[in-house]
Amino acid sequence: MNNFDIGKSGKNIKRYKKYVIKEIDNKDISFIILKHLNSLKFKYVPKIIEINSNYIFYKYIRGKTIRKVDSLSIFQIKHLSKILFQYYKLVDLILPKVFINKGYYFCHNDINPLNMVFKFNKIKCIIDWNGMTFKERYIDLYYAVWTCSNFGSLTISDKRKLKLIKTFILNYDDVNIFNDFYKKMMNIILEYKNNYLSDKKIVEWCDYSLEWLNKNESEVNQIVKQKNTNNK
Ligand SMILES: Nc1ncnc2c1ncn2[C@@H]1O[C@H](COP(=O)(O)OP(=O)(O)OP(=O)(O)O)[C@@H](O)[C@H]1O
Ligand SMILES: [Mg+2]
Repeated sequence: MNNFDIGKSGKNIKRYKKYVIKEIDNKDISFIILKHLNSLKFKYVPKIIEINSNYIFYKYIRGKTIRKVDSLSIFQIKHLSKILFQYYKLVDLILPKVFINKGYYFCHNDINPLNMVFKFNKIKCIIDWNGMTFKERYIDLYYAVWTCSNFGSLTISDKRKLKLIKTFILNYDDVNIFNDFYKKMMNIILEYKNNYLSDKKIVEWCDYSLEWLNKNESEVNQIVKQKNTNNK
């Protein structure tokens, strides 16, 4: 068996032949959604082979994973925007209408480039669904915009960050979800920071993200305005 590098949760994860075996806890609800998506042949989530009370067995996905957060490419972010739209649409099929109307949803909670498998530079799969919870849908989506355009980075230019955010928003097939984007995004980053106050690197990344967003408020609002105009 091969051990993978262990992520934030410190969960045991191993590869055995064609399988990846991951330790799970009793709060894990991801298998319900993943199995549904597997049955619909949605290819951007891992395929579940088996599950018991302690472990989940996924099919091993061939490809590349990255170990340091950078940002996605324009092409990848466009693709991600479409994948996520499709994901939410398919999960809507099993959600009672009352939740959909309230905007509630099964959120991945950590969509970022480190939780993706790439093949020939294309996103092949989004992994690490075990932290899934029931929240308002926009939270998951905005978090993905934040981590995948990585506007908390000190090295990526403002122009590129704005282009990545714009690509994501313009390619997402729903206008309403971006209402109040700036304010809600600020709150998501603040909340994330409060959950990781003991981690100096995360706190710095969050602080810089907030600073960057504040400095670029009008540019970001302009993107949302363009999205609204395009959809009239
Ligand atoms: N189905 C899979 N196919 C191929 N590789 C996988 C698969 N699942 C996980 N991996 C590999 O294992 C690594 C860790 O997996 P994952 O992101 O699920 O766990 P984690 O980061 O430890 O979890 P957590 O964020 O809960 O701590 C991934 O970066 C990837 O290299
Ligand atoms: Mg992970």
